[in-house]
Amino acid sequence: MITEFKNQNTPVDFGLVKEKIKNSGVPSIGNGTIREIVKIANEIQQASGEKFVRMEMGVPGLAPPEVGIHGEIEALKNGVAAKYPMLEGILPLKKEASRFIKMFMDVDVPRECCIPTVGSMQGGYASFMILGNMDTVKNTILFMDPGFPVQKQQLNVLGRKYEAFDVYNHRGDKLEQKLESYLSKGNISAIVYSNPNNPSWICLNEDELQTIAKLADKYDVIVIEDLAYFAMDFRKDLSMPGRPPFQPTVAKYTNNYILLISSSKAFSYAGQRVGLLVISPDLYHRQNFHLKERFGSDKFGYTLIYKILYSFSSGTSHSAQYGLAAMLKAANDGDFNFVESVRVYGERAVAIKTLFKKAGFDIVYSMDLEEVLGDGFYFTVSFPGMTGAELVERLLYYGISAIALSGTGSDHEGMRVCMSQIGEDELGILAERLEQFGRDYQ
Ligand SMILES: Cc1ncc(COP(=O)(O)O)c(C=O)c1O
Repeated sequence: MITEFKNQNTPVDFGLVKEKIKNSGVPSIGNGTIREIVKIANEIQQASGEKFVRMEMGVPGLAPPEVGIHGEIEALKNGVAAKYPMLEGILPLKKEASRFIKMFMDVDVPRECCIPTVGSMQGGYASFMILGNMDTVKNTILFMDPGFPVQKQQLNVLGRKYEAFDVYNHRGDKLEQKLESYLSKGNISAIVYSNPNNPSWICLNEDELQTIAKLADKYDVIVIEDLAYFAMDFRKDLSMPGRPPFQPTVAKYTNNYILLISSSKAFSYAGQRVGLLVISPDLYHRQNFHLKERFGSDKFGYTLIYKILYSFSSGTSHSAQYGLAAMLKAANDGDFNFVESVRVYGERAVAIKTLFKKAGFDIVYSMDLEEVLGDGFYFTVSFPGMTGAELVERLLYYGISAIALSGTGSDHEGMRVCMSQIGEDELGILAERLEQFGRDYQ
């Protein structure tokens, strides 16, 4: 807990915030998890009556698309709530998922390889579980960080090993050597990254994806490509079905892939917990002796669906699958521009970045190779002379809640700023609070 403050006359009552932090029982609130920050911000907000500017959690701040809601309502009226869904997913969703991948990524994946999961979180968890049981030597997952902290928590829950490196200083031509330094040890079963990246918002380009694919083939490792922010690199228009440019993907360059496609952000559908796990056809049909020993079946796709996903949740919410199917169909048919509906996050980022910079903050991950970073769902900031944890804790006194980069595997000090919950009407108060913070700690 921090004891050094430049000014105790803060926007939220100083004594109250201090008391709440002390009572939270979290050893270092500045290093708290997303949910710990959510909890303490809620408590301070309730006790002080002072509304926080929330930046900690990537909750979509937009209404879910009507087409999805109607799809679900219709399915519910048709009685799906009473029936267990098929483990491998309903046919309309599998069909539209396969089309979606063709339309927006220009990749051919048959329907059978497109499987609904309870959020892409579950798809990741299932992937970690199966990949951890296929080879006794390859027992470690490699993260290209910074990344989404919960995936490492999943590995901790599974009791599995992971290694990680911050990719920022190893991009472009440097990536191959860095990746090879890990893969050549022979213990890596899979490489994980998100693209666009949570939290830095850097976007791996086609050359880098080719490098990853080449090494995945050379060392026979699986690439888990986390597309939680599908098509949300707003610098390019990725919204036109069947027309380039497409969402960049490693699937263009290797057969060793698993794609995690989330509906939470691009489709503002986080509450329904429905996502897609897409397995390369080659991997889907692969046979593995260790799987047979461990799960009683040696086929990758079959084991994943009928052994692992079955035991997790017996399938994915029936009506939510219909909702997602309806949204994908509308997107594939060109009737619903899902990218357009979330572009507002990028616009917000422009305005909010300006406020931070004006108050003396720096952008941590500021460049995307030679280009200035794009504006999207997240960006990252630091304040001179402060660790990320100190920054996060001190900002609680200013009515601002965020998470430190420390939990994301970043090599840098700072915090993540998430656009989704910051309303237009809050920009004035945010500017005031940041300006006071900048003055107090300059
Ligand atoms: C990189 C990344 N992966 C996965 C997820 C989880 O997605 P879902 O809601 O589909 O489980 C998130 C959500 O924030 C994320 O940022």
